[in-house]
Amino acid sequence: MEKIVVIGAGNVGASSAAAMAGEKLGDIYLYDILENIAAGRAMDINHASPVMHTDCLVTGSHSPEVLSGADIVVITAGIARHSGMTRLDLLRQNLQVMTGISGFIMKFCPHARVLVVTNPVDVLTWYLKNLQPDMNVFGLGCSLDTVRFRHFIAEAAGVSADCVQGMVIGAHTDDMVPLVSRATVSGIPLREIVSSEALDTVCQRTRAAGTLIVDMLRHHSGFYAASQVVSRIVKAMVLDRHEIFPLSVVCAGEYGYDKIPLALPAVIGHRGIYRILDIELEPGERSDLDRCASAMNEVIQGLS
Ligand code: 2OP
Repeated sequence: MEKIVVIGAGNVGASSAAAMAGEKLGDIYLYDILENIAAGRAMDINHASPVMHTDCLVTGSHSPEVLSGADIVVITAGIARHSGMTRLDLLRQNLQVMTGISGFIMKFCPHARVLVVTNPVDVLTWYLKNLQPDMNVFGLGCSLDTVRFRHFIAEAAGVSADCVQGMVIGAHTDDMVPLVSRATVSGIPLREIVSSEALDTVCQRTRAAGTLIVDMLRHHSGFYAASQVVSRIVKAMVLDRHEIFPLSVVCAGEYGYDKIPLALPAVIGHRGIYRILDIELEPGERSDLDRCASAMNEVIQGLS
């Protein structure tokens, strides 16, 4: 069994631990700096084990030593978005949180595969990689936006989401790039069955979804979909599935970019990311990705 530690027992962290326990992905630990929060959340999750048909229990802790020997670390700690804030508004405070966490990881589990979920996820992934070049770290990127995109396509096409393939790349910001040219419904190009007006609406809904949820909930963001996606990515590592997710990475020449964070299609398995797919983009998608990249560049220049 792999040791999986989720850092941060807020809604995203606790729900991710619950989803992974339900999937029996490993020995799952939930860590939070606040005493009793992780233990209380873990208790609540474990009470569901008989009906989730799992013997995979969650252990809560407020001691960073729980990270000792972790194989996989999922970082969800940090301040969350409130209504009226962008994901980038969280940056300054969450950078400090990442600095502390990176010290713990390097001390207790330097070889772990590290999935960053905390926002702004692409920039924080870049930050950790710069701080600790040897860390095997990548971020959630546009994986959540991708499932939202697939859900909205399914609604527009009137089909099950199971039949929909598609991906959003770029960054987990309003500049994200839904790849309409590549989306299909059971292999049929999306444009053959959904009108261009309906497709524009799908893209707008995808870009606005996270903000709409925060505006409706006011004091926190969504977490059900995010935690399901986290569990899928961890499962791809545990089972060495070589699945593809648009994960936050620091570019090393892909798509012509270097040293900036972007969410790009990544093949992920047991050791983490095996390779990035550098695919052909339509001119409009390419210029949207360029816009995304220059926005990311501006943010990281502001940090250097
Ligand atoms: C979202 O898009 C929280 O950023 C996350 O819902």
